Amino acid sequence: MKVLVTGGAGYIGSHTVLELCEYGYDVVVLDDLSLGDRNAVDDRATFIHGSTLNTADLAKGLDGVSAVIHLAAFKAAGDSMIDPGKYTYNNITGTLQLLDAMAEREINQFVFSSTAAVYGYPEYLPLDENHPLKPINYYGFTKLEIERFLKWYGDLKGLKFAALRYFNAAGYDPKVRLTSLEKNPNNLLPIVMEVASGMREKMQVFGNDYDTHDGTGVRDYIHVSDLATAHVKALKYIQDHNELTVNLATGESHSVMDVIHMAESITGQKIVYDLVDRRVGDPAKLYAHSTFALDALNWKAVHSDLTSLIETTWQVYNK
Ligand code: WQD
Repeated sequence: MKVLVTGGAGYIGSHTVLELCEYGYDVVVLDDLSLGDRNAVDDRATFIHGSTLNTADLAKGLDGVSAVIHLAAFKAAGDSMIDPGKYTYNNITGTLQLLDAMAEREINQFVFSSTAAVYGYPEYLPLDENHPLKPINYYGFTKLEIERFLKWYGDLKGLKFAALRYFNAAGYDPKVRLTSLEKNPNNLLPIVMEVASGMREKMQVFGNDYDTHDGTGVRDYIHVSDLATAHVKALKYIQDHNELTVNLATGESHSVMDVIHMAESITGQKIVYDLVDRRVGDPAKLYAHSTFALDALNWKAVHSDLTSLIETTWQVYNK
């Protein structure tokens, strides 16, 4: 079966492409390389340098394809509040062009990279899929709008889709087959690793007065290889079902200081940090059970304990 992966040169995309190739899928990657790395794309996949915003690139990418896994998007929540137009165009317009190009060719299987950012501030924890949807950043809004479009395309065009709401993606392929570092990372773990490896002198801890066990923010970190497995399972799921919207999380949660302390113990390096004010829009805690993912997809995280998350990331940053 031939599958198009948009954004397949990115961090989650390249891990997903690797997993699909391991399962014997015929994979085509469409990526504009604005954030991704050509070298991260498995040699078994066909690579197209192009964009979902370009109809000729879409025509090339969709040729002979039965299903699409759509990860191409901008994802920096803070940046989306400063430059929303960029997110409207790339995330929403890009997705709609892709969906229309698929509909024209009667390709009706779609796995969508959504996010926990669709929920906004948690009204209860752990989050489940029925939690109110009130994104607090424009990035999360674009992903939620796309989820809504998917329902319409389901009703009107027979699209079968799975929307996967990732929590905090982290870690690297445990077999170290993927070693591309994210450029200018915004997320906690790559920033901690940049300090550990000497790429960065020190980091900032955003607030230590939250209502958590040590005052720093608590999140649900999910290993990127676990996310990759979930994409393959979701692809299989929509062969026999019309739609699925599911959280991908672990139910475990770790504070910023938990991550820093574990990183110090694994790397043997001191993680130098400044304690600064809270970052705007950061909830104290965010975590979810993945019981629905277990029921629907028979999926649960197996690489996502804090030690594995940090060890697999350090294998890459330590090079
Ligand atoms: C984690 C914790 C920070 C950096 C983001 C997106 C979200 C989703 C997942 C894509 C928080 C603290 C961080 C630093 C710090 N992405 N922190 N110093 O904000 O939970 O979620 O990634 O779908 O939409 O917003 O992740 O890694 O930025 O932060 O103290 O330099 O680390 O305050 O408590 P976040 P994060």
